[in-house]
Amino acid sequence: MRELKILGVVILFTLITYWGVEPFAHSQMHAHHEPATFKYEDITPLGKKGNPQRGAEIFANAGCTGCHSVKSQNLPAPMDPVAASASYGVNPPDLSDAGALYDPKYLAAVIKNPAHAMKLDHKFNENRPFPMPNFYGVGGDLDQEVADIVAYLQSIAPKEVEPKEAFVNACGRCHDMKYDNWYVIGPKPKMDTELEEAQFNLKHAEYQENLKKYLGTNPPDLSMYIRSRGHEYIRDFIEDPQKILHGTAMPRVGLTEEATEKVVTYMENVGDRKKEKRESLGPLVLLYFIIFALLAYAWKQKVWRDVH
Ligand code: HEC
Ligand code: HEC
Repeated sequence: MRELKILGVVILFTLITYWGVEPFAHSQMHAHHEPATFKYEDITPLGKKGNPQRGAEIFANAGCTGCHSVKSQNLPAPMDPVAASASYGVNPPDLSDAGALYDPKYLAAVIKNPAHAMKLDHKFNENRPFPMPNFYGVGGDLDQEVADIVAYLQSIAPKEVEPKEAFVNACGRCHDMKYDNWYVIGPKPKMDTELEEAQFNLKHAEYQENLKKYLGTNPPDLSMYIRSRGHEYIRDFIEDPQKILHGTAMPRVGLTEEATEKVVTYMENVGDRKKEKRESLGPLVLLYFIIFALLAYAWKQKVWRDVH
């Protein structure tokens, strides 16, 4: 019976450690913040119904394609990523699935005043204008025109966006994902010579330099961030970086909840490939310990029976 008592004490302390100390340590390492709601409540909706046909015309006249590609509509990028980063600090993202990635209310706000929607007012002003200009309309009712552009972007967006696409278009202009061969200037092609490799690395370094001038810091490679930060943190951080890292240079990106889950799924696919395997292994390990404990107990009984 003494052994059972000892076992009981061991279990008790394990539970105390698990439920008492672990959450405490967690709360110390990750300060508490409100979980993401993806409602973007600071943004007032336009209250207008957009017309996608008119939106297509306005989009063509608004100059968006002077900076952005829309590959699904055969509108190529006007510059290569490095040249674009020299002009704008960062390569403007492709807009093929913008209508599916971004919250419609946010999308309207970003068209009207990007720095404000992205929560970068503290970094840009008249003396240091944001690289994407505010849209002031093409002559009609501004809010109606913005609603039309949003309707157009929604009409060309695919119903379902692949996790990798979501990452590339929403994060890939600032963040590398080296474990999946994604670089801010695009995927690294297969190289045959050291010279080609060096040229690619030079372009990458130039882009990073421009990005650093623009943001003040280099965004990290996100290959392993899903492990160091975890699902919840990344999700909440994407919804509102300022809420979690005050004064951070990372803009709010305005993704819908669904698109955010796609991005996190991609980060899990890349950074935590063994997750499923590890989780399915857990119960087996427990089972092993239980069987082992039973055997040890039986063996002990047998030994002591012979002694007495
Ligand atoms: C002078 C170049 C330029 C023009 C013109 C321009 N953009 Fe942009 N746009 C940018 C840059 C640069 C970024 C990336 C900024 C960043 O990530 O900090 C951007 C980002 C965006 C984003 C992503 C926002 C986010 O939250 O990640 C959307 C959507 C967008 N632009 C739509 C448009 C639309 C629609 C138009 C036309 C009305 C337009 N842009 C015109 C340069 C431009
Ligand atoms: C316009 C550039 C830009 C875009 C777009 C962008 N980020 Fe960032 N991100 C940054 C910068 C800059 C930092 C470094 C912030 C700092 O150190 O304050 C950062 C930091 C991070 C971090 C680290 C936060 C931490 O706790 O240290 C994560 C995670 C992250 N970004 C995820 C994302 C994801 C996911 C997306 C796409 C949904 C994204 N970022 C889009 C610029 C960007």
